[in-house]
Amino acid sequence: MLQSTTTLEKEKVIINDLRSLVDNDWKAMDQEIQNQLDSDIGLINSISHYIINSGGKRLRPLIVLIACNACGFMANREKNIKAAAMIEFIHTATLLHDDVVDDSDTRRGSITAHRNFGNESTILVGDFLYSRAFQIMVEMGHMRIMEIMSDATNTIAEGEVLQLIHCGNPDTTEKQYMDVIYRKTAKLFESATTIGAVLSDQSKLIEDCLRTYGKELGIAYQLIDDVLDYSSSSEIIGKDIGDDLSEGKPTLPLIYALERCNPNMQIMIREAITNKDSSHSKEIFQCVIDTGSLALTADQAQIASKRAIDALNDLPNNQFKDALIQLAKYTIERIY
Ligand code: IPE
Ligand code: IPE
Ligand code: MG
Ligand code: MG
Repeated sequence: MLQSTTTLEKEKVIINDLRSLVDNDWKAMDQEIQNQLDSDIGLINSISHYIINSGGKRLRPLIVLIACNACGFMANREKNIKAAAMIEFIHTATLLHDDVVDDSDTRRGSITAHRNFGNESTILVGDFLYSRAFQIMVEMGHMRIMEIMSDATNTIAEGEVLQLIHCGNPDTTEKQYMDVIYRKTAKLFESATTIGAVLSDQSKLIEDCLRTYGKELGIAYQLIDDVLDYSSSSEIIGKDIGDDLSEGKPTLPLIYALERCNPNMQIMIREAITNKDSSHSKEIFQCVIDTGSLALTADQAQIASKRAIDALNDLPNNQFKDALIQLAKYTIERIY
């Protein structure tokens, strides 16, 4: 536990250092978020403030701001800040909806919004945040951004639905899993970095580099998230662990374990997935570890992180490019 605490502190220092690189923009982005949360409906304010101010890492806005700076052209500062706030609104809306779908109890170290305020109002406030994000894009008056984000939100919805279809199916393949995580998670990371290139009027080459970086970063991020669901603790990660197994969600650690375990364990895991039954979670967690499935999943994350870093080759060398490289390294080492 002491070692975990030390690692957690180190991670917080890394994130804080990255934030301080874009310090003024960061403060302006935070102010933009607070301003844009405003509604004359009290319940909307209560739920949106509850989730937005509950201590998320705000990685996606950080990526937008760093990507804008990495391209070395800052004429659009006001738009960059709006884009960063907008992307956190979309992310937060997906979390509100996702916690209802996944029936999760804890988010960001607190009780989830739907447990606190009920499913109905939480889903509707998720819709409020989605639509406010699109209002911000209209304020920005930038058609390409609108195009990128309407595609992204559509793809995320597809990813969440696709995952729902695979839940309870022990025959889900690695390829199907990768498709789900690209759509539900990596697409938003990809949008964050593409927006950085678009807002700073970069060439198609640079835009493609940043798009690939964001996509691979997002894949690595979700792979590690799925490892942490088997190996972290709720005190550290701020959400309950073991949720994937109890939802019958065949994430990569479980897919790998199924391929590598003995026939008796196979029957147990297949039944656990099919019946969304976590009564044998202890044995299954042990099997996931013993078959090396967490390490193998982490290896895939490492490959994606390396692809992300390689995609940056054509970017000019500066401290913001270094920050993107550091982010890709943090993503696979993170415990939080
Ligand atoms: C949670 O994202 C959802 C995933 C894609 C794994 P984060 O880990 O960025 O969550 P917050 O915003 O910091 O709470
Ligand atoms: C994260 O899904 C992706 C979205 C919210 C769209 P998960 O369900 O895997 O993430 P956590 O574990 O709830 O954060
Ligand atoms: Mg979830
Ligand atoms: Mg989910």
